[in-house]
Amino acid sequence: MVNDAYARITIVVYMLINMCTLAIGQSCPAYCSSFEQTFGQNKCTSCETEYFLSNDECKSCTYIGTNCIICSNGTYCSKCLPGFWDTNCGAICSDGCDTNSCNVLNGSCACKQGFYGSTCQVPCSQNCLTDTCGPNGECGCKAGYYGSSCYGNCFETCEDCTDATTCSLCPPGKYGTLCGDSCQCSSRCDIVTGACMN
Ligand SMILES: *[C@@H]1O[C@H](CO)[C@@H](O)[C@H](O)[C@H]1NC(C)=O
Ligand SMILES: *[C@@H]1O[C@H](CO)[C@@H](O)[C@H](O)[C@H]1NC(C)=O
Repeated sequence: MVNDAYARITIVVYMLINMCTLAIGQSCPAYCSSFEQTFGQNKCTSCETEYFLSNDECKSCTYIGTNCIICSNGTYCSKCLPGFWDTNCGAICSDGCDTNSCNVLNGSCACKQGFYGSTCQVPCSQNCLTDTCGPNGECGCKAGYYGSSCYGNCFETCEDCTDATTCSLCPPGKYGTLCGDSCQCSSRCDIVTGACMN
């Protein structure tokens, strides 16, 4: 008695959710998530996760069991498990993404600190002043490096520079843009005039 009532409720709930009419001689299409009645038949209008609609039937996504959750046909995945992207969900979201997910079409994401690039795949230069850089890797440089992303090394006899041939800080006792001139100072001298600094 109790089991029978339970079974009826289950069927009613099932029908309400699926809108599939279980009349005599009819069946509900497999893996179908919504239906409409067409000529007394349950016609499938959308499929469960990991299946796609083809000729009124729900067929398995090719990449089922891999990382694909929703596909629009056998070979095109439109929603991947978190952490994956591309039409077959075969690409992994970059370590530089700030969450474990990225755009399914192109892998783009918001970058966590210290990364840049269209998919946040590039770490900021180690020569940046801080562990932060702009959308193209640009940052302020530590002493001894130059360039918008600080990948340039100042020449050896120069402690800091603005470009490959313009020193902004010569070692003590040296001055000039290439630090090629000598000054007689106990500390640093003015880089332009060679005058002692204090
Ligand atoms: C699969 O679906 C995608 C996106 O809707 C489409 O570009 C592609 O041509 C489809 N492929 C087939 C074989 O139908
Ligand atoms: C990736 O796709 C999103 C949404 O379609 C778009 O806003 C973004 O610009 C794309 N990124 C790249 C790198 O193409």
